[in-house]
Amino acid sequence: MKILIVDAMHPSIVEMPRDLGLEVDYFPDITFNEVLAKVPDYEGLIIRSKFKIDKSFLAYATKLKFIGRAGAGLDLIDVEACMAAGVQLFAANEGNRVAVAEHMIGMLLSLLHNIPKASQEVKNKIWLREENRGEELYGKTVGIIGFGNNGEAMAQRLVAFGCKVLAYDKYKYGFGDVFIEEVNMERIYDEVDVLSLHIPLSDETQGLISESFLNSFRKNIYFCNGSRGEIAPIAAILNGLKSGKIKGAVLDVLEHEKLDKLTEEQKTEFEELAAYANVILSPHIAGWTHQSYKKINDVLRDKIQRYLASRV
Ligand code: 3PG
Repeated sequence: MKILIVDAMHPSIVEMPRDLGLEVDYFPDITFNEVLAKVPDYEGLIIRSKFKIDKSFLAYATKLKFIGRAGAGLDLIDVEACMAAGVQLFAANEGNRVAVAEHMIGMLLSLLHNIPKASQEVKNKIWLREENRGEELYGKTVGIIGFGNNGEAMAQRLVAFGCKVLAYDKYKYGFGDVFIEEVNMERIYDEVDVLSLHIPLSDETQGLISESFLNSFRKNIYFCNGSRGEIAPIAAILNGLKSGKIKGAVLDVLEHEKLDKLTEEQKTEFEELAAYANVILSPHIAGWTHQSYKKINDVLRDKIQRYLASRV
């Protein structure tokens, strides 16, 4: 079986399929057109987010048996088209769940305790204590939307910080326990101080964060997004910040992440967002640790190994 790897990955990605007796071609710099020319020869494809995989791509991939997504999000892959083409899909959500949860907790604590702002001030020899008095995470009610790998990892860590954790997942039931309460959206709207998104981008979730969504919350909230930017358009976040409904936001993802290719309107929105001291941004690195880089490969290797064993 021949495997084509088309994105830059931790070096272990090359050794692991070989250990399984697979022939591996690692072309991290390959272009889309080069992939189209090569892919008919391969039974396996491993990709991060270099390009979209849709019906027309799959039409070229005539021998393809599986796709390994070296990461969590499947928004660039047409899952139904893969199923229709008989192509198995493996994602590695288990590989970066700890990284995402640690990063989002770090951002949230940084926001509540004014750490980026205070650090910048001290570096500029500005010593403000009262102005930087913090807000404790302890005792806050946090709403988690989406209880997959990283929603669960986030919830577990929030429990350890003494939060009341409410979790809602439209497609999952029976996951609650003594520490994490499984609730409907009404409870989230009614009770939370902090909202954290852990859902995939889909037609259903794109633009979910809107003025009316935010106004459904009884309290003013802190907002955390480490999922996908398109779920929370910047215009909606700005509205929330202006009205006070959003007391502060931590965003590892943005609606438009190619910051050097923004339209004038997008640039204005971005600059407005970036000017808020109570908004903390990072460049889509929540799942991006040295450890998750390797763990993602381990998860894919195990899934591919199980798949190969099931075919024998
Ligand atoms: C993920 O979905 O795992 C993260 O968003 C990172 O994805 P990327 O490695 O494809 O950028």
